[in-house]
Amino acid sequence: MPDHLCTPGWWSGAVGYELYVRSFADGNADGLGDLIGAREHLEHLAWLGVDAVWLTPFYPSPGRDAGYDISDHCAVDPALGTLEDFDRLLARARELGLRVLIDIVPNHTSSEHPWFRSALEGPDSPHRDYYVWREPKDGGAPPNNWVANFGGPAWTRDPAGRQHYLHLFLPEQPDLNWELPAVDAEFRRILRFWRDRGVDGFRIDVAHMLRKDPTLRDNPPARRTTREPGTVEAWDRFEHVHDLDQDGVLDIYRGWRTAVPDALLLGEVYLLDPVRTTRYVQDGDGLDLTFWFGPMVADWSAASLRRALREPDALASGRIAWVAGNHDGARPASRLGGGPRGRRRSLCLFTLLALLPGMAFLYQGDELGLQDGVVEPADARDPIAVHGREPAAGRDGARTPIPWRTGHGWGFTTAPRPWLPYGQHTERDTVAWQREHPDSWLHRHRRLLEVRRQLRRDGAHGVPQWLAGHEDLVAYRRDDVLVAANLGSEPATVPPAYSAWQVRFSSLGRDAGSHDGVVAIDEALVLERGRGRGGTSSAGTFEADVVSRAGQ
Ligand code: NOJ
Repeated sequence: MPDHLCTPGWWSGAVGYELYVRSFADGNADGLGDLIGAREHLEHLAWLGVDAVWLTPFYPSPGRDAGYDISDHCAVDPALGTLEDFDRLLARARELGLRVLIDIVPNHTSSEHPWFRSALEGPDSPHRDYYVWREPKDGGAPPNNWVANFGGPAWTRDPAGRQHYLHLFLPEQPDLNWELPAVDAEFRRILRFWRDRGVDGFRIDVAHMLRKDPTLRDNPPARRTTREPGTVEAWDRFEHVHDLDQDGVLDIYRGWRTAVPDALLLGEVYLLDPVRTTRYVQDGDGLDLTFWFGPMVADWSAASLRRALREPDALASGRIAWVAGNHDGARPASRLGGGPRGRRRSLCLFTLLALLPGMAFLYQGDELGLQDGVVEPADARDPIAVHGREPAAGRDGARTPIPWRTGHGWGFTTAPRPWLPYGQHTERDTVAWQREHPDSWLHRHRRLLEVRRQLRRDGAHGVPQWLAGHEDLVAYRRDDVLVAANLGSEPATVPPAYSAWQVRFSSLGRDAGSHDGVVAIDEALVLERGRGRGGTSSAGTFEADVVSRAGQ
């Protein structure tokens, strides 16, 4: 087998947790979450039952994009701890049986990175070609029509010279030139640095963006109307055919595989197109796993959600990292209706994702059913709000600090003020309250993860077979397990062949055991064929089931 081919590893069927370091827990009383606080609260994740923790960037950074603007890839930001704190966190994770993934940000650096500072010295700098420079058009206009994710053109003129440099995010996040072998060599060194320290894998930031069209052609105007979260509105006016998702980008990851052979390579391939996204993981070539963001933008309708789940799974089963929420979009509990309904739907959606092949990721706070915090424009930190001047599209609402318990600082910090406002929590949002109450969202998430683990152990590994024919039920079967979610406005019924199956999990907290075949509005059920009891549906009757309708 060629070196770059990857076989599924520990991560197959595992549950990940996105730990957004700046808002998880503050261990040094400055109002900003850090590695010390993260270590002290890792037990929460072990108790919850996740397998792996993804730590968002903790490297030295001017913080223009909450740490995704890195000025030193092999160190820890002093506000967030030290390398020793990182080692201690890793050791604690090991004790608790948790794997650790870290963010690697290869598309761009901070403009404060020594490479870029050196590049600014002029065309003779040894680092000039680490970045993408071009002459302006006649009259001084930017070299092409590309726009930045966070607003404005994707080009900024070198203050001391004539050339422009490329940045697909902020001007303070210059894009690296991945045509240059030296850049690749630098990143292999960085990967090995962290792998040698003991991390289990890497979440690769905007993994589809590293290569650009060699002649930097203009992007055509958009044909579609999708509003992508995590970008300004102007970004959506173009078809991004020349600035991202270019041929050759997978070669980079094939090379990385030889640098860190047994580390998980998980790509943030933010394309919202299942065919283009799954190219990054097909045939075990390229990346091990790719995030798939379809569920974060799907409407609350069975047809929309079925599309968002079924196609990527069919194209790359087992290679998808499913997400219902992350630090770049509205929290599912807010996006899906807010209030109790939004919370119900959030867990309903996560239940559907959690039993699919691949990995499923929970974003911190979603296990509590948190809603987006209100962040007034004056408190905004996100560059989409600050630089792009689109506060409504800003991502701060999903990034407010975790409420651990009531009292000053919500158990997040002892500092007078947190880096972002807390949002409007009540006692019932806190980890402490929810741990005490077995019917809380937190306990339900925990039960779901436990069921997932048991089923995984029991060998429910089959490729999902999707039930068709029912308007409002999204349902799939894997071996002796059926997962069914009702997205309609009336209770629905599972096909009769499953009515004797046992309820292993109800997202509404209904008792496990036998059931009446009914899936309530906004409920997801996990059913298992009882051993030695009824419900002996064969593959043949299953085929018949898939066209039956509730109540028929
Ligand atoms: C994706 C990250 O998730 C997001 O938070 C960040 O702003 C961009 N990449 C740029 O690094």
